[in-house]
Amino acid sequence: MTTKMNDIDVLKSLDRDHVWHHLTPGAAARNGLPMFVRGEGLRLWDSEGVEYLDASAGGVWVTNVGYGRTEIADAVREQLAELNFFAGSMGNKPAAAFAKKLLDKMPGMDRVYYSNSGSEANEKAFKMVRQIAHKHFAGKKHKILYRERDYHGTTLAALSATGQAERRDQFGPFVPGFIEVPHCCEYRSQYGDSDNYGVQAAEAIEEVILREGADTVGAIILEPITAGGGIILPPEGYWPKVREICDKYEVLLIIDEVVCGLGRTGQWFGYQHYGIQPDIVTMAKGVASGYAAISCTVTTERVFALLQEEEGDHLGYFRDISTFGGCLAGPAAALANIEIMERENLIENSRIQGERLLAGFNALKEKHSVIGDVRGKGLFAGIELVADRETKEPVHESVAIAVAGACKSLGVIIGRTNRSLSGFNNILNFSPALTASSEQIDRIIAVVDQAIGEVCSG
Ligand SMILES: Cc1ncc(COP(=O)(O)O)c(C=O)c1O
Repeated sequence: MTTKMNDIDVLKSLDRDHVWHHLTPGAAARNGLPMFVRGEGLRLWDSEGVEYLDASAGGVWVTNVGYGRTEIADAVREQLAELNFFAGSMGNKPAAAFAKKLLDKMPGMDRVYYSNSGSEANEKAFKMVRQIAHKHFAGKKHKILYRERDYHGTTLAALSATGQAERRDQFGPFVPGFIEVPHCCEYRSQYGDSDNYGVQAAEAIEEVILREGADTVGAIILEPITAGGGIILPPEGYWPKVREICDKYEVLLIIDEVVCGLGRTGQWFGYQHYGIQPDIVTMAKGVASGYAAISCTVTTERVFALLQEEEGDHLGYFRDISTFGGCLAGPAAALANIEIMERENLIENSRIQGERLLAGFNALKEKHSVIGDVRGKGLFAGIELVADRETKEPVHESVAIAVAGACKSLGVIIGRTNRSLSGFNNILNFSPALTASSEQIDRIIAVVDQAIGEVCSG
């Protein structure tokens, strides 16, 4: 029996009875989950015909060019009709064309290694570091540092490199050789009031390198701006100092642009705000805005050269594979996606509308004492809710849940980060598609204002 795709009640009961949903408590799923069935721009419609404005880019920072882009769907369809798949030491047209387009946005970066998800892109980076350690440092320089509050993915090595205890609970033991460094959230500074916080937070990394032994540390992975861990912007002076430390100890700098990449922060890549040059950059989500699964691990020519075979070492090339990586719907979608971003100046729109969003939220801070901190860059923003501004005591996570729920009832979908440094899930996050208009940004601000007023009055 085939199910008619327009029989929504049947489909909802099939979903309830047969689909195991990501990160969803059983109790929620047992009652049956709502379904979104259509999208256009930032607008979404559920199966009951109710319309929403999506300020979360598909829930998890993905739909950078918005919903309903038939141009991307057509590019994928045409590619699949012409050739859907062939892997194994052969090139393909969209992967070549997209690699060139992408590298044009990333001066100093030279090679694109394709895979299918953010976690996988990070796994590839880790495997590169480990193989470089074996080939060039007798296996010694194999440790990989990661930062408290950063998230790098769901697979076991990526989770071993994740600084969010609540994500790791119940999945150990972890992969050896991943070492945590302290966070860099100035709002919750470890050093009290400091006018040199950024440099201090970076020097904390140097302390870990020296403690572990610089000859054992191969790389550090960092988000340019921490996403799910609390929308944490790097403090002044942090990034240049991090780069300096990496150079001093020959530590490769891996920047995880899975969320920030492709315009989210008002630059093509988050690291480009800070004038630094990475060795490896990973990206996924916005690469094809959700029209196909694709991720990339982008390296310098130097990293590429370190993983080439040599005489007497015929297996010394990067011995890794991903069946679907770079084949073929992914790069076809990514190419059409990046062409839209260029044509519609979406990086500039992200910057301009991001400033409008932040200004609006900062104005709300004057009005609602529950807003402890407003942080963001481009169309990537967070509001930290506190019970007391002086002590920065967080609100209970039920408050953030209620505010997000009230926004949804008022027709705007917003996000919440994972449990934050304060120990509670008290941060609201916002990442509308990069096409957002001034009217849509104003609506988001107005709805957040109303929702906080409703939930927190009295
Ligand atoms: C910064 C960051 N890196 C990596 C990932 C993992 O990406 P994926 O879920 O595509 O494996 C995520 C997912 O949210 C992320 O936020």
